Amino acid sequence: MSDRRFQTILITGGAGFIGSHVVRHFVKKYPSCQIVNLDKLTYSGNLESLKDLEAEDNYHFVKGCITDEPFIKKVFEDHRPELVLHLAAESHVDRSILDPLEFVRTNVLGTVNLLNVARDAWENKSTGLFYLISTDEVFGSLGPSGFFNEDTPYDPRSPYSASKASADHFARAYHHTYQLPILISNCSNNYGPYQFPEKLIPLMINNVLDAKALPVYGDGKNVRDWLYVQDHVEAIDLLAHRGEIAHTYNIGGWNECTNIDLVEMLCDLMDEKLEKARGTSRSLISFVKDRPGHDRRYAIDSSKIHHAFGWKPTKDLQEGLSLTIDWYLSNRSWLKQVTSGAYQKYYSEMYKAQEL
Ligand code: NAD
Ligand code: TYD
Repeated sequence: MSDRRFQTILITGGAGFIGSHVVRHFVKKYPSCQIVNLDKLTYSGNLESLKDLEAEDNYHFVKGCITDEPFIKKVFEDHRPELVLHLAAESHVDRSILDPLEFVRTNVLGTVNLLNVARDAWENKSTGLFYLISTDEVFGSLGPSGFFNEDTPYDPRSPYSASKASADHFARAYHHTYQLPILISNCSNNYGPYQFPEKLIPLMINNVLDAKALPVYGDGKNVRDWLYVQDHVEAIDLLAHRGEIAHTYNIGGWNECTNIDLVEMLCDLMDEKLEKARGTSRSLISFVKDRPGHDRRYAIDSSKIHHAFGWKPTKDLQEGLSLTIDWYLSNRSWLKQVTSGAYQKYYSEMYKAQEL
């Protein structure tokens, strides 16, 4: 099969962490393709992350909410995208525990709204593709062994993963019922530059810089499979152009690590880079009350995308973490900007509850 080609791509959530990397990658790699970034600019969306693209002719930004039907229709009429890369979401598990309804609004209703508009816009056309970027958390939690693969039954256990699972089901239902061309990938934990400091890695980096306690939930033995964000972006590019319609692909880093091992590795790297005595940052580690319903282990088997297209992650955790820390150290103004205002309120409410 020859690669699909697109003249216009609509990327939702392009001002967020993964979205900003996706937008940058597509704008630079495909200069003759128009890239439309649609984002509501919630607390986790930040145009500062895309400043370097403002002068690019093929980059366009539209501000709005994916649940707003007239607005989404207008975006489709104005830009006529042939590919939707749907990343816009409420993305943080802890926030989903505090406010599940917001996750239903954006992740479920917003996705169905986009599916409806895409279905109507692409009726009788074979050019459209709706690609939903999803998470491995839809599969639930693993014991000490085994991996999630594309046939693993869904078993979401947090309000976040339940809302993402619901979006995945709707996308498949739209293919089955209306023949809407869809594709889904389920990816493991991403990390890298521009990640909002509510997620484990940037939160720990930010707290080391502020000499604040490093809150490790429970016994710190929960396992995540970490993937450097650019590796995820390369996989999205491949699948958008070559992935089989209606297929699901798992994307993972082959980089399993317990939270405590990861935080210790991060502390040692930061001591080295900040020229502090070894052990300085580790002394900030504080075990706190566990997250309710905390999934024990995620691990992804990415052999389908590897065998189909040769994709594999290029960075191990040590290298990816070092690059990530370097970026945060060189971009303290970004960190300062995103942690001003509402972040402080979230942080004190969230971590006061964790008895920190
Ligand atoms: P993020 O929170 O950093 O970014 C989400 C973006 O969506 C923000 O720019 C925000 O402003 C925007 N947004 C939120 N609600 C919106 C709405 N109603 N309308 C329009 N825009 C809205 O999230 P992320 O970590 O970059 O994740 C992006 C996608 O990838 C999500 O769908 C997430 O479920 C998925 N994913 C993330 C990871 C991960 O480790 N971060 C792993 C697998 C899959
Ligand atoms: P997170 O980055 O929130 O991603 P997810 O919950 O989607 O996997 O958390 C990664 C792991 O780190 C998870 O097991 C929860 C844990 N964690 C902490 O121990 N302390 C923290 O302050 C945060 C934010 C997460």
